[in-house]
Amino acid sequence: MIIEPRMRGFICLTSHPDGAAQNVKNQIEYVKSKGAIAGAKKVLVIGASTGFGLASRITSAFGSDAATIGVFFEKAPAEGKPGSPGWYNSAAFEKEAQKAGLYAKSINGDAFSNEIKRETLDLIKADLGQVDLIIYSLASPVRVHPVTGVTHRSVLKPIGETFSNKTVDFHTGKVSDISIEPSKEGDIENTIAVMGGEDWAMWMDALKKEGLLAPGATTVAYSYIGPSLTEAVYRKGTIGRAKDDLEATAFLITDSLKDINGKAYVSVNKALVTQASSAIPVIPLYISLLYKIMKEAGVHEGCIEQMQRLYQDRLFSGKEIPTDEKGRIRVDDLEMREDIQAKVAELWKEATTENLAEIGDLEGYRKDFYNLFGFEVPGVDYSKEANELVAIPSLS
Ligand code: NAD
Ligand code: NA
Repeated sequence: MIIEPRMRGFICLTSHPDGAAQNVKNQIEYVKSKGAIAGAKKVLVIGASTGFGLASRITSAFGSDAATIGVFFEKAPAEGKPGSPGWYNSAAFEKEAQKAGLYAKSINGDAFSNEIKRETLDLIKADLGQVDLIIYSLASPVRVHPVTGVTHRSVLKPIGETFSNKTVDFHTGKVSDISIEPSKEGDIENTIAVMGGEDWAMWMDALKKEGLLAPGATTVAYSYIGPSLTEAVYRKGTIGRAKDDLEATAFLITDSLKDINGKAYVSVNKALVTQASSAIPVIPLYISLLYKIMKEAGVHEGCIEQMQRLYQDRLFSGKEIPTDEKGRIRVDDLEMREDIQAKVAELWKEATTENLAEIGDLEGYRKDFYNLFGFEVPGVDYSKEANELVAIPSLS
């Protein structure tokens, strides 16, 4: 069938398999163009189908010839109904990995559950023996706690007081003022339960108990800080509390891995258009200004450039892994550069519906958003029938 984008609010209901496949190929080509990375060889990526997790999986496979197991939660396609983008990304990834002679298998289901952990542990045991790198890149609005059965929902709210600022609807380009009410009782705890470190620690405990971590195994989870502009709704809001918890968990995991000389890190990544970040108020306006300025300065990066740099210059450079005063790896260094942030802050004050297309990269934002769903990808003929029923080889 012919697949076109169908929007509902901030989400796109359809996705295009050929566009997704082209995106994956482009990311693979980028990683290959940067040369070999002396990295981990047996890699588990939790949240492997889109965004930073997919880029990590691609960097491991095509930068270091690694065997990869990817865990994700995606919708399989059905007759007349395309699957979710991460489904098509993973199908394309596995096919390219097979062509390159690389082991790649996937597990589709709720990574927070005991069942999916069990399935993953069994697959590692059977096929890889052990893993030496575990990437934790989940972004989810909800988690059913595997012990209590309680459903926790994360919220994106300021803490203590109402936050009022500008935002943009990137579909229409309309800049408007919004107010976000402060979090209510339970919101902080629930957001920490979903996006904090508990599940990461559960994965690492389970892997360790069953002897599935290679000596010196490394695990990395992703965080964000951002500027003072977005602080009230991001880093000092409910999601920021969850990130604080995630960052604190890295130290606990490192302690628990002492006997195998393992280490847990948090990498602070750059703000990028992903399904997760498009849903956060204020962030799209910030990103559209940031993109404009970073592109002008020649320092713009997407997920794949970020993860390739994380691996090559930070994790596997052969030198000691550089961290900030809180023990975090920083690949948001270019975003946070003083000159870049000063310009964003200046433009922020000026931004209106009338001038945003000019002073911000609204078009770049919109294009990246459509690209997430496999649309508007150069080289893809969208007038052609797409095979919407693409299978993921290891799942079929
Ligand atoms: P994303 O939405 O692109 O990816 C999320 C991944 O998690 C997907 O593979 C999805 O299938 C998987 N997933 C979600 N719920 C799941 C579940 N219950 N079980 C199994 N898999 C599940 O998100 P992203 O933007 O790449 O975010 C990944 C991490 O990077 C998050 O911790 C996020 O906070 C962080 N981060 C994002 C940005 C940004 O600007 N996008 C910046 C810095 C850090
Ligand atoms: Na991800």
